[in-house]
Order: sequence, then structure tokens, then C-alpha cells
Amino acid sequence: MSAKSTPRNQPRKVFIKTYGCQMNVYDSDRMVDALGADGYVETKVMDDADLVLLNTCHIREKASEKVFSELGRIRDFRDERGAGAKKMLIGVAGCVAQAEGEEIMARAPAVDLVIGPQSYHRLPDLVSRAHNERVIDTEFPEEDKFAHLPAPKREVTIARGLTAFLTVQEGCDKFCSFCVVPYTRGAEVSRPVAQVLNEARGLAGAGVREVTLLGQNVNAYHGLDDKGRPVGLGALCHMLAEIEGLERIRYTTSHPRDMDDELIAAHRDLPQLMPYLHLPIQSGSDGILKAMNRRHTARQYLDLIDRIRAARPDIALSGDFIVGFPGETDADFADTLAIVEKVGYASAYSFKYSIRPGTPGAEMDNQVDEAVKTERLAALQAAITHKQQAFNAGCVGLTLPVLMEKPGRMPGQVAGRSPYLQPVHVMADAALIGQIVPVNITAQGKNSLSGTIVTADRLAV
Ligand code: SAH
Ligand code: SF4
Ligand code: F3S
Repeated sequence: MSAKSTPRNQPRKVFIKTYGCQMNVYDSDRMVDALGADGYVETKVMDDADLVLLNTCHIREKASEKVFSELGRIRDFRDERGAGAKKMLIGVAGCVAQAEGEEIMARAPAVDLVIGPQSYHRLPDLVSRAHNERVIDTEFPEEDKFAHLPAPKREVTIARGLTAFLTVQEGCDKFCSFCVVPYTRGAEVSRPVAQVLNEARGLAGAGVREVTLLGQNVNAYHGLDDKGRPVGLGALCHMLAEIEGLERIRYTTSHPRDMDDELIAAHRDLPQLMPYLHLPIQSGSDGILKAMNRRHTARQYLDLIDRIRAARPDIALSGDFIVGFPGETDADFADTLAIVEKVGYASAYSFKYSIRPGTPGAEMDNQVDEAVKTERLAALQAAITHKQQAFNAGCVGLTLPVLMEKPGRMPGQVAGRSPYLQPVHVMADAALIGQIVPVNITAQGKNSLSGTIVTADRLAV
């Protein structure tokens, strides 16, 4: 056997399964990048992995419980693969690792490694240690992990596609009374401006056309510039808009209290900033908003939306809702339905309140019955679907600039994205992938639009 074909020289393979929000999707890529510098390549199948990582989410009870059942399955798979096969390490990352690291070590002996989100730059070291002993690292280290995480290779970025996530801010100081994020992700931290711009230039240079800036509280961004002055998200968007090739900018998730004038003005002034805003309110009832510690009223939220719409009249709004927060009455819930009606969301996510240990909501004694939560969730989702369909129907007949992203499911079809984040299916030459082309929207499906390319037409956006 030649030296080249010995197993020692074959790259080791990492399989990552990602749960939860977009920040976890971003983090999983960065973990692949960190391990890439150490000779690992990503595999999309667990069968041939040397390392399996679960990047977990702790936001609701179901999400965290899933981790333990999945760990059981992976352990069984490893056992079946048998002692003769190569060794496979099992690691748990993400928010469950951060919140329940010790419990995972105790409950799941098959786990070799537990790593919290702030330690991802240490991953290669921790993995090599995990070959000899079980390892846990859930500290909040002093050093800036982003300064130590390697950038992806150009060909890796190219393979990831035309749209990319870019985390600019992590953690949260808001402490909504239902939420674990301030505990799992720690205090709010913004990445320095130069670091963000460098990463964005790297992405654009590798062909990325659309970047979504991420943060648990992204519009609280206040990264420092080279002179040590804080820069807000609106100003950051202006700087990103200067980058050659970067044609679209989005950001998520925003808190209503951090939607400042500069950011609202950026929606008016920057064509690159897409007319889509995820701005959760959680409940339409002032009493519930107070109990949730959201620190604003329904009226203030609606006034804010008026100001945003004055700056960018066509903006599509999206939100998150929780039904069945402790003490929620039928009247409170009716207020939530009224908000959906008034705002006319283009899309929205809704969840049954889930008790999270350690949060103030868990201590409240007026918990709502599961059956009531189920009923309210169904009613809310019906109202949201209705609004979403109305929004999509309003797009039929318009000509929208569509980012042609990838081959569609049908032959000859290309799948793209509208400015309002809707998937758009177009019969088109695959050579157009990577370009933004005017598409006349001719029909709406359940969650998508379809249309035909127009060559000489005025764009609606
Ligand atoms: N930072 C974002 C939300 C992050 S969590 C914000 O402030 O809006 C994403 C969504 O999960 C939340 O908006 C909320 O709707 C939902 N969520 C968070 N904790 C929850 C809980 N305990 N039960 C049910 N839904 C929850
Ligand atoms: Fe959670 Fe509230 Fe922070 Fe959002 S703002 S991450 S809901 S505590
Ligand atoms: Fe879940 Fe952590 Fe994101 S709890 S929603 S993965 S920040």
C-alpha cells in the first residue's frame, strides 16, 4: 500500500447535526472551519464520521429533550459499527451543552466531549484531548473566540452558496421572563467593525451576494470601530453596502426597543438593505408583555411599525409569538390576534409557552393548561397563514428583483429569493444563477411564488 492511501493520511471526517436558530447554523460552519484547519472535512452522512457533533438548542423543552434521544441513537449506531471499525467520537455543542453540560456528562456516558458556544475556537484541542479522556468546556473565556476562529477556505465558502450568515452580535441582556438565551449565550457582545467587514469581504470575494447579519439581539449591535467608537447596526449596514459584490443585506433577530432612528433611516436610504424585518412582539396584551419583561406596550410596537413603514412603505414584517404564557386570558389572547390583524405579517412563527427551568416564568403559579395552549396556537397559526397568503397574493402581478440561487426541483427551473424572503420558482437558464433578475410574479403557492423573467420592465422594488 502506498503511503498516500494509508488511513492516517485520509482526512478525518466530521458530521454535524444542527438544531435551533440561524446562529447555530452559522456556528456549525465555523466549527467545520476550525476543524478544517486541523485536517477534518465535513461529511453529510454519519456512517463514515470520525467525529459526530450535535449543535443543540435549549429554547423549548422539546428541543432539549431531543438531544438525549438523539444521543441514544448515535450511541447505538456506534455500537453497531463495532469495535473493528474506526473510532468515532461523540460531542455535544450549543445551548444545551452550555446549560446542561454536567447533566449530559452524567446522563450520557457515550458522550466524549461537551463544548459551549463560547469555546468553539478551542474545538481542535478539545477533540484531541477527547481521544484520551472525557472533556467538558462550558466556560465563558476571556479571549474573543472570533479572533481565533479561522476563516473558511475560499472553495468552502463557494460550496456553501450565494447567501451566507454572519454573526455580528451574541448574547442578550434583555432577560425576557420566558427565555433561556441570556443564560445559555451570556451577556451581549458585539464583534468589532473591522472583523465584521473583513469577514463580509471574504464572503463577497467568494461570490456571496446576500448576507444575513445575525445576533440574538442584532439591532443592539454596537461594535467598536478602529478609533474605539461604537457603531450601530444602521451605520454598519452603510459600511457593508460599500463592499463590492455584496448586493443584499438582511439582519435578524431584532428587539423593538433597539430599533433606533439610524437603522430605520437605513431602510429608507440603502437599496441593499432588504425590505424585510423580523420584529417579534410575542404577545399583543400589555399585561402579558409586562409579565414577559418585554418593556414596551402593544401601542409602542404599532407606532414603531408606522415609523418603519414611513421610511420603507413596502417593508415585509415577520414576528414571533408565544401563546399560553402564565396568566394569559382569553382577552389577552384576543389582543394577540388583533396585533396579527393590524400588522399584517408576511410571515410569523408561533410557539406554545414552554417552562424553562431557571427563568422567572417557571416560577409563576398561573400556568395555562396545555389544551388551552393547543387551541390558541391553532387559532393564531390560522390567522398568520391568512395574512401570509394575503401578502403573497399582493405580490402577484408585481415585478420583483429575484436572486437566482440554485437549480429548482423541476428540470429547467431555478429557485430564487425575492426581497421579501419568499422562495420564487422561475423557468430559467441555470447560467443566471448568481444574478439578480427581474421576475414578473404570476402565481403564489402555499409558501412560495412563481413567475417569469422579464427583460425590459420597471422593477417594483
Ligand atoms: N432574540 C429573539 C428571540 C430568540 S428565541 C427575540 O428577542 O425576539 C426565538 C423565539 O423563541 C422567541 O422570539 C420566542 O417567540 C420563542 N421562545 C423563547 N423562549 C420560549 C419559551 N420558553 N417558550 C416558547 N417559546 C419561546
Ligand atoms: Fe430571549 Fe428576550 Fe433576549 Fe430575545 S430579547 S433572546 S426573547 S431574552
Ligand atoms: Fe436555541 Fe440557543 Fe438559538 S437556545 S434558539 S440555539 S441561541
